[in-house]
Amino acid sequence: MGKFQVIDHPLIQHKLTIIREKECGTKVFREVVDELAMLMAYEISRDMPTENIEIETPIQLTTQKTLAGKKVAIVPILRAGLGMVDGILQLIPAAKVGHVGLYRDEETLEPHEYFVKMPEDIDSRQLLVVDPMLATGGSAIMAIDSLKKRGASNIKFVCIVSAPEGVKALQEAHPDVDIYTAALDDYLNEDGYIVPGLGDAGDRLFGTK
Ligand code: PRP
Ligand code: URA
Repeated sequence: MGKFQVIDHPLIQHKLTIIREKECGTKVFREVVDELAMLMAYEISRDMPTENIEIETPIQLTTQKTLAGKKVAIVPILRAGLGMVDGILQLIPAAKVGHVGLYRDEETLEPHEYFVKMPEDIDSRQLLVVDPMLATGGSAIMAIDSLKKRGASNIKFVCIVSAPEGVKALQEAHPDVDIYTAALDDYLNEDGYIVPGLGDAGDRLFGTK
């Protein structure tokens, strides 16, 4: 079974509380999601492998560490995942970015795929699939199915708020995928919203409701 980690750093918890508040407007919501993604990327990259290389400082030759593992691709699930891309790119600026477009049918909660555009070499990259919300898990599962069909095998899923139902479904569907979240909330309500959650992440990021 892949790793499941709640990243409960005090700065992350503080910022998450800010965006949970219903009075938090689009500008602040977007800025804080960006900051949360950057802080989460710092924690998620903690186990990246390094190797020794020889360099020359102004003083002498020395052996020092540099990143050695697979190159990274960030894959936001549209739309709300877009809000997490720039924060991660601040720490991993050479990452490529693929996109998977999905929307949840508001009645059935079933995800529907409408767009996929990935870098050609996804089979040799560490993929960070990002979406602020893991609710039923349907969107994350479908996005990862779609990436695996295209050859991806090394996948981490990064969300800000998760529901126990979604974590369980994603672990069952893709036991090889590590899941990172800033919070594991209580449950899903009858409309498929995470409780206490933060509402509709896409609408709050883009000001569409
Ligand atoms: C939201 C969210 C996730 C999905 C999570 O997207 O950003 O992608 O719901 O729910 P699930 O785990 O039950 O699938 P939505 O479908 O509202 O689309 P949007 O990002 O375009 O607003
Ligand atoms: N998608 C959201 O944006 N919010 C939820 O609470 C559940 C799914």
